[in-house]
Amino acid sequence: MAQTALLRVDGKDVTLPVVIGSENEKAIDVRNLRTDSGCITFDDGYGNTGSCQSSVTYIDGDAGILRYRGYPIEQLAEQSTFAETAYLILHGELPTPEQRKSFSISLTENAAIHSSMEHMFESFPADAHPMAILSAMLNSLGCYYPHLARNDHQRDLANYAETAALIISKVRTIAAYTYRASRGLPFIYPRRDLPYCENFLHMMFSEPYQPYLALPEVAAALNLFLLLHADHEQNCSTSTVRMVASSGASLFPSMAAGVCALWGPLHGGANTAVMEMLKSIHAEGDDGTKFIEQAKCGLADKRLMGFGHRVYKNYDPRAKIIKHSFYSALASLKIKDDPLLDIAMRLEEAALKDDYFLARKLYPNVDFYSGLMMRAIGIPENMFTVMFAIGRMPGWIANWRETASNPKGRIYRPRQIYTGATKRDYVPMHLRK
Ligand code: CMC
Repeated sequence: MAQTALLRVDGKDVTLPVVIGSENEKAIDVRNLRTDSGCITFDDGYGNTGSCQSSVTYIDGDAGILRYRGYPIEQLAEQSTFAETAYLILHGELPTPEQRKSFSISLTENAAIHSSMEHMFESFPADAHPMAILSAMLNSLGCYYPHLARNDHQRDLANYAETAALIISKVRTIAAYTYRASRGLPFIYPRRDLPYCENFLHMMFSEPYQPYLALPEVAAALNLFLLLHADHEQNCSTSTVRMVASSGASLFPSMAAGVCALWGPLHGGANTAVMEMLKSIHAEGDDGTKFIEQAKCGLADKRLMGFGHRVYKNYDPRAKIIKHSFYSALASLKIKDDPLLDIAMRLEEAALKDDYFLARKLYPNVDFYSGLMMRAIGIPENMFTVMFAIGRMPGWIANWRETASNPKGRIYRPRQIYTGATKRDYVPMHLRK
């Protein structure tokens, strides 16, 4: 028999259905609550709100479990690549050899951007933030493919596979060109013979007179970084993507909105914030001890960045993987003595023994070591969050598809508890003091 929950409001009983997910997660279905009781739910920050049903990613934050389409992140990190994992997330299944090959061809063929788009980079100030450029460019990209950006879900879904590959391919070119333009360097065109990550590194670091060929360890580190960021269920940016999609918007504006939501330091911007924190601790001559004490006073601007997570109340499995592979790649990444790495290790060690962090279940999240890894690859700090965005594209696109293809889908439109002034009459200017 279907489970239900009973709620009593103002002496009236309301029966609410219980929805059970494939991993036995339970949710109380409140869709008829307002009609049946006159009440809405209040959940500031959505900590207890399931905003959708999704088959993309499963997280058990208490157990530190993350799976894309059912596959444990540890297995994918060990055996897959970013491009293959992107296909899995986009289409729900690991690709067959033919599917993998044809996805690869789509990525290669879509790598270049329209030459008039290249000129757009010149119109940004040299110190414009790459995340601002990325979101503007992703939105503009749709203008070059109006047949893929109709703001009509049925027609946009008909071209889903093509649009998905196009965005995943071009986002890497846009990111590399943003970097080149900010340094006043000429654009380096993509190559047909290079895989996804190697091609990105080529567009970033080759010069017209000198090709850059990524070391296998560097390409592997980038592959892992992108794969670990490929999806993370209903976080701030993904739910923003779904919010925008719910209005009927196409993939392009939805992706641009995802980039904006990702930018903040509590979300994707944390990888940059971690580096800023480590550098400022180093500049002050602190070994981390003083900073840990400050981080415990609860002030938002003194948080231990790269620690804590809304969902994980255990080690973030991505942090475990990235830390492990970072340590094993240190030598090949040519890192010997890095004072920032020493500080990071000391901070982690101290926090994991400290009652403040233990009581609040604050563990390192993916961003704690990912910035150090990006730095070792040679990615400049202001590009860290862009790298996160490149990685997250498959997840955002798959979530857009779920929203767009939901036959019962409605526009996302939360309610609120109004706390402002009650009705009052307009006061003409001459009577105001
Ligand atoms: N350093 C010190 N105290 C912390 C931290 C931290 N990093 N994170 C949370 N707390 C404290 C917070 O002050 C609060 O204490 P109290 O109960 O005494 O008021 C308690 O822990 C719960 O914190 P919260 O802000 O209610 O937790 P949240 O679920 O709303 O926020 C978070 C989650 C990730 C925004 C937060 O932990 C944080 O700001 N961490 C640092 C930023 C960061 O690393 N973000 C990246 C997240 S992972 C990548 C991604 O998916 O975006």
